[in-house]
Order: sequence, then C-alpha cells, then structure tokens
Amino acid sequence: MAALAKTRVAILISGRGSNMASLIAAAEASDYPAEIVLVAANRPEAPGLAFAAERGIPTRALDHRAYLSREAFDAALHTELKDAGIDLVCLAGFMRIFSAGFVESWAGRMINIHPSLLPLFKGVHTHEQALAAGVRLHGCTVHYVVPELDAGPIIAQAAVPVRPGDDAETLAARILVQEHRLYPQALALVAAGQVSLDGDRVMFSGGVQGTDGALLSL
Ligand code: GAR
Repeated sequence: MAALAKTRVAILISGRGSNMASLIAAAEASDYPAEIVLVAANRPEAPGLAFAAERGIPTRALDHRAYLSREAFDAALHTELKDAGIDLVCLAGFMRIFSAGFVESWAGRMINIHPSLLPLFKGVHTHEQALAAGVRLHGCTVHYVVPELDAGPIIAQAAVPVRPGDDAETLAARILVQEHRLYPQALALVAAGQVSLDGDRVMFSGGVQGTDGALLSL
C-alpha cells in the first residue's frame, strides 16, 4: 500500500533553535507523519539556521529589519511558505508578532510552543512571571496561533514542579526538557489529523484524549 503523503512543515525560529532541533530529530523517523521542508528565521544570525542547513534542510533568512512594515515582512514570508508548498507552520522560539492578516491566512495551520501553562504568563519572561506569582506548577503549552498573542486553542501541555530555590534559569532548563518532548508529540498529532481546529475549540480524534498521560505529565 502506498504510504500517506507526509504533512509539509516549515519551522520558524529567531535564535538557538533547540525546539526546532527536536522537531527535526523526530521527523527523521520513517513513520513520523510530518516532514520538515523549510526552516526560516527573521534573524540571519539565528544559530538554528546553520544547524538545519547542516542537516540538509532548506533554510531562508528574512531579516525583518529590511522590511518597511510588519505587513511587508509577513507578505514576503507568506510567499516563501507558499512557494515551498507548506501545509503547516511551527513556531519554535519565533519572537516576532504577526499581522492579523498573516495569522488569518494560516488559521488552523500554524502552531506555537510557549514556555508557560497558558493562559497563565503570556508574553516574555514567563519564568520570572511564574516565580513572581509563586505558582508551584509551571510548564509549557503547544497551541494554535490566533491573532491575540499566546491566546490560541491549546493542543498539549506539560507541567513541571517549581522547586524552592529555583531561579528563572533552573526553571527554564527544567521546562525546556519538556518542550523538547511535547512539541514533537503535538506536531505528530496535528500532522496525522488526530488533532484539528473547529472554530475556537481543539478537536481530538482516534482516542487521543484517552492517552492524555502523554500530553500532560509531571
Ligand atoms: C523556548 O523556550 C520557547 O518556548 C520560547 O523561546 C524558547 C526558544 O528556544 N518561545 C517563546 O517564548 C515564544 N513566545 P529554542 O530557540 O532553543 O527553541
């Protein structure tokens, strides 16, 4: 029987790209439902670009500073994604806000990983926010992207304890381990069609909800 076509994924980064690397590694498995066909960055100096290129993945650097407006940058990126035949966009440490028009044109086809248990601690400095709030649990979230920042329907979350003596750095490191586990799992579910967006609700099929131990872990 012919294998089903894999979902064609672009990963967008701004820096280090460790989440990108975890997605690339997962997608190397022959039975993974997505293939990484493009890595693009809004910063040409993003270290993740070289890592992807070394693995033979096409890369693009679109320096946002070279565009006159947010819309102009988003239009150029949109063209790159369309030209590459992208089905699904994964934001992985992409630290730039999109215009609403761009987000709407990728509605239900763009996901992000955020380093907090949303809806808590949106935006930046999430670990500092968590420490200031005194929460005992913190974590990461994979969600669909909507125009409002960090507000999209939640696909998967992983939680970690906040330990006495933690600072932002120790907390970030503990959460990053979970990000690298969670994002490949979440992408697999979306790419396989086991998770989809129905209006503003995430729909699960194929018994995914019954296996939520894999999606919410301490
Ligand atoms: C990750 O912790 C990711 O969750 C976060 O940036 C880091 C990127 O690291 N993303 C955001 O804060 C998005 N708002 P990486 O480049 O090594 O994947």
